[in-house]
Amino acid sequence: MRIETYRGAPFVDREEEIEFFVDWFNDVPQRVLFVYGPKSSGKTTVIEYVIEKKLLPEKEWWQKSKYWVKYLNLREALIASYNSFLDTFFIADEGDDVEREARVGVNLIGLKAEVLERVKKKQENLFKIFIKEIKKIADSGKKPILIIDEIQKLRDIYIQNGNGERELLKEFLNFCIRLTKETHLSHVVILTSNTVFIERIYNDAKMKLTSEFMKIGHLTKEKVEEWLFKEGVKSEDIELVWEYLGGAIPLILKMFSKLRKGKDLKEFLEREKWLAYTEINEFLAGFDDEDIKFFIKVSEEIVKNGYFNIEGIKESERKFLQKWAEKEILFYDPLELKVTGNSRIYEKGLELLLERRPFERVF
Ligand SMILES: Nc1ncnc2c1ncn2[C@@H]1O[C@H](COP(=O)(O)OP(=O)(O)OP(=O)(O)O)[C@@H](O)[C@H]1O
Ligand SMILES: [Mg+2]
Repeated sequence: MRIETYRGAPFVDREEEIEFFVDWFNDVPQRVLFVYGPKSSGKTTVIEYVIEKKLLPEKEWWQKSKYWVKYLNLREALIASYNSFLDTFFIADEGDDVEREARVGVNLIGLKAEVLERVKKKQENLFKIFIKEIKKIADSGKKPILIIDEIQKLRDIYIQNGNGERELLKEFLNFCIRLTKETHLSHVVILTSNTVFIERIYNDAKMKLTSEFMKIGHLTKEKVEEWLFKEGVKSEDIELVWEYLGGAIPLILKMFSKLRKGKDLKEFLEREKWLAYTEINEFLAGFDDEDIKFFIKVSEEIVKNGYFNIEGIKESERKFLQKWAEKEILFYDPLELKVTGNSRIYEKGLELLLERRPFERVF
């Protein structure tokens, strides 16, 4: 396991994921790659690392790299309409040369001013124009790669055109299929921690056939042990950390920072557990008795077996669990059909919930 410095902070492991992406980008584009996983597992960090360190050499990347990479992170963008989507990611740039990429950058897409104007006025279809642009790039010998983070933000946006309103997200997904499976022009990677969204895609027959799903979870026990051992943590403490924090990288980093300031480990872990519990308890208070009873049952399963199996549950129960997933307290995996804590600390919070509500327990 490697620990290196990336953007001034430690970057831990992820060697397998990095290798997977590098191989994926070396293949011919055939399917759209969906990357999902629990909140804060490190999806964005891995892909940004791959872009910066593996795809684009640090200096003059626009000339040296064999790739043409566009990375659009919708999280930071305020996208309320089709036009704000256009304004955030597409800018007018006249040149057609390689230097254009240096001006425009990785996070934006340059279009000729008049073309962009026509797209804005709906005289031209954005996706048709975009495919033409990508074709030009591919013809010039570069391999195009399009990466979209936090795609679910496009969910409620509609494009108004002559035939009425169409969903931007649907148009966009069709465009991704066109780029990969049909024309093999460009790789498309789509990231999200919103598994309700992933479930919708995964259960859509057309998308399922044309997509690949990759999960980036928290670190495994072996990786955590190796990391903590390297950092000089005592072996009995390593067990304790795994018990409370599991493989959640940001929490482990927070722990190191607290330890460096002289904080007691057990005290820190207990406090994190308490915080998870209070978050759960507060959200739970908004539901009626029947939902609470179901939640207690789910919690018991998770605490006892490590997960709750969602096969065959009622639609209303599924919707209820999805609310907990949207709240990022539980992690809902539509491929493995399992619900767990969003990270280990929430499972400790559930344990505390059960201890404090013994009268509601089933077993
Ligand atoms: N491999 C890593 N080594 C060190 N720190 C990491 C690593 N991966 C993620 N982090 C840190 O953990 C935090 C969460 O990471 P990141 O935002 O990449 O997760 P994410 O899965 O994209 O989250 P979200 O679900 O919010 O999209 C960040 O502060 C990031 O710097
Ligand atoms: Mg992210």
